[in-house]
Amino acid sequence: MVRRIPSPEAPHGQEAQVAPAANPVPNPVLDPVLPLVAPEGALTGLAAAVPAGSTPLLSPEAALSPQEEADARFAAGDVEGAIALWRTIVAADREDLWSLLALVDALFAGNRAGEAALALHEARQYRPANRQLMALLAEAERRQGRFDVALPLYEALASERPLDAPGDVAGFVECLVGASRLELALKEAYAAIRRWPDEAALRFWLARALEEACEQQKAADAYRACLARDPENTLGAAERMAALSEGRPETLPAAFVRSLFDQYAHRFSKHLVEKLGYRGPALLRAALEEAVGEPLVGRGWSVFDLGCGTGLSGEVLADLAGELHGVDLSERMLEEAAGRGIYKSLAAEDVVKAVERRPGGATGEGWDLVVACDVLNYIGALEPLFTAVAGKLAPEGLFALTIERLEGGEGAAPMDFTFQESRRFAHSPVYLRQVAEAAGLAIRLERFETLRVDRNVPVIGGFYVLERAG
Ligand SMILES: C[S@@+](CC[C@H](N)C(=O)[O-])C[C@H]1O[C@@H](n2cnc3c(N)ncnc32)[C@H](O)[C@@H]1O
Repeated sequence: MVRRIPSPEAPHGQEAQVAPAANPVPNPVLDPVLPLVAPEGALTGLAAAVPAGSTPLLSPEAALSPQEEADARFAAGDVEGAIALWRTIVAADREDLWSLLALVDALFAGNRAGEAALALHEARQYRPANRQLMALLAEAERRQGRFDVALPLYEALASERPLDAPGDVAGFVECLVGASRLELALKEAYAAIRRWPDEAALRFWLARALEEACEQQKAADAYRACLARDPENTLGAAERMAALSEGRPETLPAAFVRSLFDQYAHRFSKHLVEKLGYRGPALLRAALEEAVGEPLVGRGWSVFDLGCGTGLSGEVLADLAGELHGVDLSERMLEEAAGRGIYKSLAAEDVVKAVERRPGGATGEGWDLVVACDVLNYIGALEPLFTAVAGKLAPEGLFALTIERLEGGEGAAPMDFTFQESRRFAHSPVYLRQVAEAAGLAIRLERFETLRVDRNVPVIGGFYVLERAG
């Protein structure tokens, strides 16, 4: 076993010390083995600490020290035996940092990160300022997928000075990706790669962040660079590359959408309407009026605005709604929408999950109107959403939506949808009709008009009003 060395900049006894509490909190990792104060001669009965079924002591005649014995067990693959011995050793001397680090390594090797976290929490009572313990605790939490706990620890470490080891930066970037903070994840990963160009894990987490940011080509390059440094593929870069090369994504990663619109939120409404000539909400309202054939003001409908954004779509529907609810992945967009004061509720959630989770309508009798204005172009495959909406419409309820029309999708071999250079999806009307029919929805109105102008090219939108079939 390669022993983890206590960090030289915070050697035992030099960093800020906290006197152990008179009655330290019992630690379930350490305490079942020995009482807090090891009785006289506790370490002489080591064999008793090794679990039954573990390999016998390796070389009794060699008179190994307890630490050597634990190391030898670990090296021989007896992880459980090593853990039991290290626990005994650490319980006898709670301030033995070397042995604690070895215990943590053994617990990590035994996939027991939760127990490692408990041991580290206790060790930090004695050494609260020790960066190595804090980084290991962050790792233990991250290994359990507890990014919300690990992230503040990494952030506290990084705020003092750059993280000390490439593995810590890789862990930090992993947590940032998990929390959808892609901009910072990319910044940290690129900076660390300049410091440690040969570290495969950094390349891997750079690639994951790029993938989430929908930079497929750059992500593939980063996976390739990872594999060059990790030819055994221990990190799984080969599988991720294969998935990438399978072509278009089925939908956009939630982290990408959230991060894109969080950044865009404060200037979204002005930019879209004034610079891109965005007309989606007004045209969809007009399509609805035409489909119903009567003015809609004052209907008192229960309306669910999917991907409500800053509320541009909600604004044109407020006068027909008895109550208006919105959902969006981006919290910044939702803050802008909340400022309009027209929504009864706003939730930060994926649209499919939100439709499935909610009962539908004001009293659960189904929505009178579900709207998805300029949203489906961030969602590739439409089947899950259409099925969910169809199940939550009121008997006379309507589903009003827009798509970006896929040109040429109507040929002999019609296409379903493509992922465009703009990093939005375009859907073919043929596909939309098929999905609607399969979900039990009929088309009451279909029309095509300019949705917005992108780099001087009109983006043709499909405007649809669907209703329950039959
Ligand atoms: C172009 S904006 C349209 C906003 C608004 N409907 C309008 O017409 O102005 C697209 C919005 O859809 C949201 N969005 C995209 N995919 C989503 C998903 N799967 N779940 C929830 N919201 C999503 C984005 O966060 C963004 O706010």
